[in-house]
Amino acid sequence: MKIDRVEQIIKNMTLKEKIGQVTQIGYSGEDVDEFVKFIDEIKPGSLILAGTALAGSEEQRSVQGENLVKLQEYAVKNMGIPLLFGRDVIHGHRVAFPLALTMASSFDFKLVEKCFDAVRQEAVSDGVNWTFSPMLDMCRDPRWGRIVEGPGEDPYIGECFAKAAVKGFQKGETVENGAMLACLKHFVGYGASEGGRDYTQTDISDYSLQNEYLPAFRSAIENGAQTVMASFNGINGVPNSGNKKIMTDVLRGQLGFDGFVISDWDAIMMMSEYSGFAKDKRDSAGKAINAGIDMDMGGKVYLDYMESLIESGEVSEEVLDEAVRRILNVKAHFGLFEHPFYENQSFDLDEHLALSQKMAEESIVLLKNSNGILPLSKENRIGLMGPFASERRSHAGCWSLDWDQSLVHSIEDVFDKEEIKYVNSDLRLREAPQFNADCIVIALGEDRLMTGEACSVGNVSLPEEQVALLKKAKRNGLPVIGILCFARPIALEENIDLFDAVLYTGHAGSRGAEAICSVLFGDAEPQGRLPYTLPHYSGQIPVYYNSLSGCRQINSYYDDEDPRFWSYLDTTSKPLFPFGYGLSYSNLEYGEIKTDCDKIKYEDIENGEKFVFTVTVKNTGDRKAVAVGEAYVHDTVASRMRPLRQLRGIKRAEIGAGKSVEMTFELGKKDLGFYLEDGSFILEKGEFEVYIGESSICTNKTVIEVV
Ligand code: BGC
Repeated sequence: MKIDRVEQIIKNMTLKEKIGQVTQIGYSGEDVDEFVKFIDEIKPGSLILAGTALAGSEEQRSVQGENLVKLQEYAVKNMGIPLLFGRDVIHGHRVAFPLALTMASSFDFKLVEKCFDAVRQEAVSDGVNWTFSPMLDMCRDPRWGRIVEGPGEDPYIGECFAKAAVKGFQKGETVENGAMLACLKHFVGYGASEGGRDYTQTDISDYSLQNEYLPAFRSAIENGAQTVMASFNGINGVPNSGNKKIMTDVLRGQLGFDGFVISDWDAIMMMSEYSGFAKDKRDSAGKAINAGIDMDMGGKVYLDYMESLIESGEVSEEVLDEAVRRILNVKAHFGLFEHPFYENQSFDLDEHLALSQKMAEESIVLLKNSNGILPLSKENRIGLMGPFASERRSHAGCWSLDWDQSLVHSIEDVFDKEEIKYVNSDLRLREAPQFNADCIVIALGEDRLMTGEACSVGNVSLPEEQVALLKKAKRNGLPVIGILCFARPIALEENIDLFDAVLYTGHAGSRGAEAICSVLFGDAEPQGRLPYTLPHYSGQIPVYYNSLSGCRQINSYYDDEDPRFWSYLDTTSKPLFPFGYGLSYSNLEYGEIKTDCDKIKYEDIENGEKFVFTVTVKNTGDRKAVAVGEAYVHDTVASRMRPLRQLRGIKRAEIGAGKSVEMTFELGKKDLGFYLEDGSFILEKGEFEVYIGESSICTNKTVIEVV
């Protein structure tokens, strides 16, 4: 029925109206009575609520809900087609939740879904019905500023994160039930930007594309995502904004996507301005729509050139109709025609703040804890120092557009509120920080403006002035506890030895400082696990856990380096902290992996049978802990080189002191097989190693066989 209605609308649309429908224009809070003239003139399909292209790097005017209502009323009256209001609601709206990369380190995707559900409630209450999120770019290079916007280096974490985000944002499925459309970005491979330099080229093999870059998108599409944003980068020398193979054959043909695709900001015209792929803007517009880019964000090239492209036959009206049809179908399925406005949206800000804090607490990773110095007692007298002791804004991270400043505190604010005894040293570098204290807490980190879009860096080491401060702190002879508020993975080098304990916090959102303090004092248990590798040195990058087996050596990540063929002569090539790593304040021991059946017939696995494993996890310490069991697979012999470990299962359990819990994992076809270059999925007979423990380098292993 909805489809009939769409066909009817298309039949009655003029060419100008169709061109408007495939165009998105910017609305930055201008006077509504003035702005409606653009709706009259252009008849746009969507408005993007952003003041600048790099919205995340600028303070934004907040969305005016009542303006959107007026604009929607006008659009419905004048065009008969409601608008999609798109906005970069990335990891929060009023309340900032931790950055995506930080959330991913919780390994708790039920909680991630709840957070995105909360974000949805806040955004739709302002009238936003479409978010340019989640960002699903798999990335192995921490120099890339945008690594913080995505779920990290692992395709499985990407799959789990994608599902959680889409389910949270689109909860209720229709406008009537309060859903907000998710937009998967950036399709595809943007995270492979060479050298971590933003907007540069990428070179991805078909095998890697299928097995590493596409899984998160597949998962999001299977879970109901209806819009996709094309990425700036190109694959095989073709910019994705004009790449028919990627945007149509792969996205629609292989992944079964049937929604619509929007370009990235100005990306269509960039094919002529920068990429040398089109001779002028007009040519760019033709190439983009013919490749499968249904809506133009920012550049207005469809608006300016589509009519002439159709007249000349370079674009057929059927191609334009198909793009319009896809956009209208999404609007129709989303129930926007019947319900162009959200009704009675309300939410409890305090609940969202509490949720943001819980998410942050679960995301904080304990990297080091010599002599069990943490958690601290509130009776301790603490020497507090470092640039992040008083920092507020950066906890909310990049892309926090409508954040409420009053909600974000610094570590000092929380210490004051909790009446924690501390001596503050707001020092300049030349002064020696001397403390009459029991320990020093040094809060280091990176400014949020050093992260996100167009914020790549060439060196991911601890900044020099922070190292100098750390060394001065160490000279007090007191235990030094590092709070590392870096949103991206950094290279700690030998500086790791200067810390007695380290909490890696990321940019942890509106309640980041509260979460840091509750983990520091043991009100919450540390339970984060790294969704990326922490390198020793910048020069090791890229270093990631799921690399393919090598030649003349297996892979130094797993300690298999042959001394005759070291990866580097001058330094180690092992990670400082591997993917999946994170400590607890207690001690967790993983027992032998048991399985009732270690051989299953190929046909039975094809028909859905699974290997089942159980592991007993014992908390041998004297306080409760949260265990995060991770199951990794290695296909030992296959027709392609396979990753040495591949995460395929996560189980979480809170375990009391001295208690044990049995964890069960199931692995089936999807976990044991892989994609070929053409997008087909195969499972091959043979042996598989299965590892279960608390990091990618765990050695607790069993072997199974598909016969
Ligand atoms: C970014 C996108 C973002 C868009 C709209 C672009 O520059 O790459 O991630 O959604 O701007 O703000």
